[in-house]
This record gives sequence, structure tokens and C-alpha cells, in this order.
Amino acid sequence: MNSEMDATFVYLIVFLLTIVSYSFWKLDHKRGSAGSRSNKLPPGSMGWPYIGETLQLYSQDPNVFFLTKQKRYGEIFKTHILGCPCIMLASPEAARFVLMTQAHLFKPTYPKSKERLIGPSALFFHQGDYHAMLRKLVQNSLSLEKIRNLVVDIDSLAASVLDSWNGGRVMNTFNEMRRFSFEVGVLMIFGHLDALYTEELKKNYWILDKGYNSYPTSIPGTPFKKAILARKRLAQILSKVICERREKKLLDNDFLGCLLNSKDEKGEILNDDQIADNIIGVFFAAKDTTASVMTWIVKYLHDNPKLLEAVKAEQLLVQKSNDQGKQPLSWSQTRNSMPLSHKVVLESLRMASIISFTFREAVADVEYKGFLIPKGWKVLPLFRNIHHNPEFFSDPQKFDPSRFEVAPKPNTFIPFGIGVHACPGNELAKLEMLILIHNLVTKFRWEVMGSQNGVQYGPFPVPMHGLPARFWKKESTS
Ligand code: HEM
Repeated sequence: MNSEMDATFVYLIVFLLTIVSYSFWKLDHKRGSAGSRSNKLPPGSMGWPYIGETLQLYSQDPNVFFLTKQKRYGEIFKTHILGCPCIMLASPEAARFVLMTQAHLFKPTYPKSKERLIGPSALFFHQGDYHAMLRKLVQNSLSLEKIRNLVVDIDSLAASVLDSWNGGRVMNTFNEMRRFSFEVGVLMIFGHLDALYTEELKKNYWILDKGYNSYPTSIPGTPFKKAILARKRLAQILSKVICERREKKLLDNDFLGCLLNSKDEKGEILNDDQIADNIIGVFFAAKDTTASVMTWIVKYLHDNPKLLEAVKAEQLLVQKSNDQGKQPLSWSQTRNSMPLSHKVVLESLRMASIISFTFREAVADVEYKGFLIPKGWKVLPLFRNIHHNPEFFSDPQKFDPSRFEVAPKPNTFIPFGIGVHACPGNELAKLEMLILIHNLVTKFRWEVMGSQNGVQYGPFPVPMHGLPARFWKKESTS
């Protein structure tokens, strides 16, 4: 293009954008001013047509974007991101309204490409009877009675993953934590799975993971296409595992056992696709979430040497009462003998708020505090804004586990969500973190490498470059 054509092209684009912006503004304005107060949209700005404020969101730390908006417009505001008009809600009452008391008016919503990769029958895409039936199964497999039996195995998994870090090589802490949380996922889903199957699942799950946040396209060789192919292979592997279980008539008590034995009121069982979608769904929900928080724990302990010493003292006492670690860790120790470590876990969940918000879609026009939430708009309760509000957590940027000596006010601490879709894996996640802390502080010392303050999103926030660190096993554990 020559420069004259360039200029014409730019004018044309500006002209078109102005026309479309004006129509958007008119539509918004009409909605905002029509009729009663309940037809008023919340304050906020919708940005450019189509792209809305997506560029503003991604050109800075997303948390700064949300906090700036909250400061300017208050606890409820509108915006337009990722092609969707959205209402953001930054108060505990609003989160309760959307996720609990009026949850039937807000359905879960995910892009179709993500549904394809995980599997459309996974529970978190659903509402109503199917969701309730699956949720019972998942909750049963993750109940305290079930997970207490996993302590010894999780403890030996943590010990063996940590042993592989020994020697002072630079490790990507986040990737290592993903390895650990994947193995815990395998344990919870399949019990003791054949090592060959575990390797195949891991290999393909990793490819799926890489494609999850890539641009959805069917062009061969792209991360998304590779992920789709890996997803097919995962279904085949799972089908073999399911077939073997059925042939051997094993009535195991793990998650797969629960899925295989389940029957709804009409006596119908789950088919293989439904089982596979839910297994991959649980892996997806469990792995990077827990791994991100564990990576933050390593960083927070490293950055707070006094706290680390106190946590170490607590955990060395536990180790001592286990005959210097010769006896396995017990469930009751994880519940009763680690009060400080438990507060470190809670404070890490608050501080890192790795799930900054969740998405719902309004299924009808809804009125909230005199504002209209229009049908079809996305609704985002902002967990991180709530966790970082000084009204609920004084000096919110300070890592201070002692704040959890007093229980937080209702709905102000919701790292696992609330309501019908709240995380059924929260107790397992906390158990995993406590066991990791026990093994890490009693047996290792570590050093974090390079610049320590950046954050990367993938999509959960983790310390920059996955927190490169060196680990050394201590000579004596006493
Ligand atoms: C630190 C780790 C974790 C965090 C922060 C976390 C957080 C969450 C949150 C906020 C939700 C609700 C999302 C919403 O309402 O839209 C959720 C749902 C879910 N989580 Fe977790 N989670 C973690 C670990 C786990 C683990 C270990 C498992 C399983 C082993 C798990 C399984 C699930 C499932 C299946 C759902 C969907 C529930 C439903 O839709 O009914 N999560 N998680």
C-alpha cells in the first residue's frame, strides 16, 4: 500500500469504529436511561467496539485493571472483555448473590474450544440434575473419610518428588509442583495405576495442557490441534483402563470406582465418554491450581525467614514424634499438629488468589442493588479484589498468616468459591500443601534464583519463570 492509500484506510477504519462505537454507546445509554432505576446498567466503560477493553486488561497486570476500575466505579461495574459485555462484582454480598442465593439465574460459561478439550460432559459445564448427580460422586471421592486414607501415599510421593530435586540444580519450581499434583490426581482418581498408563496419561495430558490456552484452530501442527489429538489419545487410554476394571470386576473405592458404580434414579449408568470427560475435568481442576499455590508457598516461606524458622520448628516436632521421620505422617498430625503451617496455606491462598475471578452468564435480566444485569451478559465475581480489600484484610499486601487466628468475615475468604459449584477438592488441596510443607522444611534448604518479584499468568498467576530455585537435602533430619 502507498502512503495515500494508508491514510485512506486509517480514516475508513476510524470512521467505521466511530459509527459502531456510537451505536454501542446509544444502546448502552438507552438501556441505562430507559424506564425505572432497575433498568440502569452499572457504571463503567465498554471500550472499543468488539475488542472492548481487552487490550487494557492484557497490557497491564490484570489485577491493576480490576482494582483501578473498582476504585473508580465502586463494587459493581461494567466492562467489555474478550468479546463479551461483562458485569464485575467485587463485594462478598455480590459474590454470594451470584454464586449462592440466586445461582439458578447465573449459569457456568466457558468458551466452546475449552469444552472440546476437557470434554463437554465434565461437571463444571453443567447446572441442574446432571451436575448434582456428578457432584455427589466427586464429593464422595474427595470426602474427609476418603482422603484421610491418602496421607501415607501423598507423603511418599512428596518425598520422592523432592528427592529428585536434590543436588543444587536449578529447578522450575512450578513445573515440579505440577508433576507432584498430577501424581496426587492419579492417586485420587485411579488408586495405584499401572506405571505405563500413568506415563501415557502424563505425556498426553501435558500436550493437552499446552494447547489449552492457545488459539483454537484446526491447522495441523498448531498447539491447539496437537491438544485435540492428545485429547483423543487420552480418551483411548482411559477407555482401556475402564475396560480392564470392568473385566476384573474390581469394585475399587477411588474416583473411577465411584464413576463406574454409579446409577441415577432411573438406574442408568455413566457411559465411557462421560467418565473420561469427568476424569480429565478433575485433572484439569486439580493440577495447576494446587501447583501454583504450592509454588507461592515456596516463595513466601523463602521471603520470610523468621516465619520459615517457626514453620520448621513446628514440622520438626511432628517429625520427631514420628521417630525422626521413620514412621509415616498421620492424618491426625495433618489436622492437629500443624496450626502455623495451616495458616501459611490459608494466607498463601488469600495472597496469591490464583483464581482471581470466576465466570457466569445471566440466564435472565437480573436486578442487583438497583442495577440491571442483562440476560446473556457475563458476570464475574472478583475473588482477588475481595481478598485484597483492606476493609476485610488489613494491610492486604503483607504476607501475614497470623491474620487467620481470627476467622474471616462470611464470604470474604473464598479461594475455593462458594455455592453449588464450590471446589469439592479443597480439603485434598490443603492436605497436599501441608504434606509438601512438612517434607520441604524438615528435609531441605533452598535458594530462589534471579529476580524474584515478577508474576506470570498461564492462566493462573505464578512467580516469574516458574520460580527457578535450587534445593539441597539436609544431611541430618534431626
Ligand atoms: C489450591 C487449589 C485449588 C483451588 C484454588 C481451587 C479453586 C476452585 C474454585 C474457585 C472453584 C469454583 C469455580 C466456580 O465457581 O466457577 C473450583 C471448582 C472445582 N474444583 Fe477446585 N480448586 C483447587 C484444587 C482442586 C482439587 C485438588 C480438585 C480435585 C481433586 C478440584 C476439583 C474441582 C472441581 C471438580 C470443581 C468443579 C465443581 C463444580 O462445578 O461443581 N479442585 N475449584
